[in-house]
Amino acid sequence: AADCFQRQALDGRHVLITAGPTQENIDPVRYITNHSSGKMGFALAEAAAEAGAKVTLVSGPVHLPTPDRVNRIDVVSARDMLAACEAAMPCDLLIAAAAVADYRPEVVAPHKMKKDPTTGEGLLLQLVRNPDILATLAGRPDRPFSVGFAAETENLLDYASRKLRDKNLDLIVANDVANPTIGFNSEENAITIIDREQRQTSFAQTSKGKIARQLVAFIADRLNQA
Ligand code: CTP
Ligand code: CA
Repeated sequence: AADCFQRQALDGRHVLITAGPTQENIDPVRYITNHSSGKMGFALAEAAAEAGAKVTLVSGPVHLPTPDRVNRIDVVSARDMLAACEAAMPCDLLIAAAAVADYRPEVVAPHKMKKDPTTGEGLLLQLVRNPDILATLAGRPDRPFSVGFAAETENLLDYASRKLRDKNLDLIVANDVANPTIGFNSEENAITIIDREQRQTSFAQTSKGKIARQLVAFIADRLNQA
């Protein structure tokens, strides 16, 4: 019972977390998306709630139960995800774990698209850029302490530190998705955190739940120093 009164690392903080993929409709029955189970984002939401935070979890379509004491908002597209995040602001800490579709079809066909049975021709889809949710929120005057993920298949630390700088982040979490044992649908992860001074901190491969608790403790420490 004594621990009920102990101060926790994220007591009184509002933490906003994005998770899962987004889906961008082509027509009423088809869409473009990314690989993402949502497991890492949901594990982070659970860990942040355990650390005493008020947690808002904005999630794309996933098949996961909502962690205890987490306010979950379900969305489909990147634009929906941005709108839901903007509505949830302000927050003290943003962790962007979502695999956001970078592009969406310029037009969504109102009816199911039909093949031309006579020509056998292919299909060209015109795509336009989606908004960058993390960069948008990290660029606001009321910007939260901002943490991004960089999922890369090559040049991991180099691409990750570029994203840290270009999106004006406080921390970036580099994730090697070319390694199948820590990739999209796996139960485990291994990460390297990079800060604005280019200092690196690595957590060895373990369950996404453990990585989430280590990462939340690390972030809370930096946030409480800031
Ligand atoms: N992100 C976002 N909104 C987007 C694209 C990315 O919020 N439209 C966030 C992701 O949630 C992640 C970080 O930005 O925290 C990096 O995402 P990533 O896809 O690795 O980088 P991009 O900036 O999209 O660059 P690219 O895909 O070209 O490598
Ligand atoms: Ca991307």
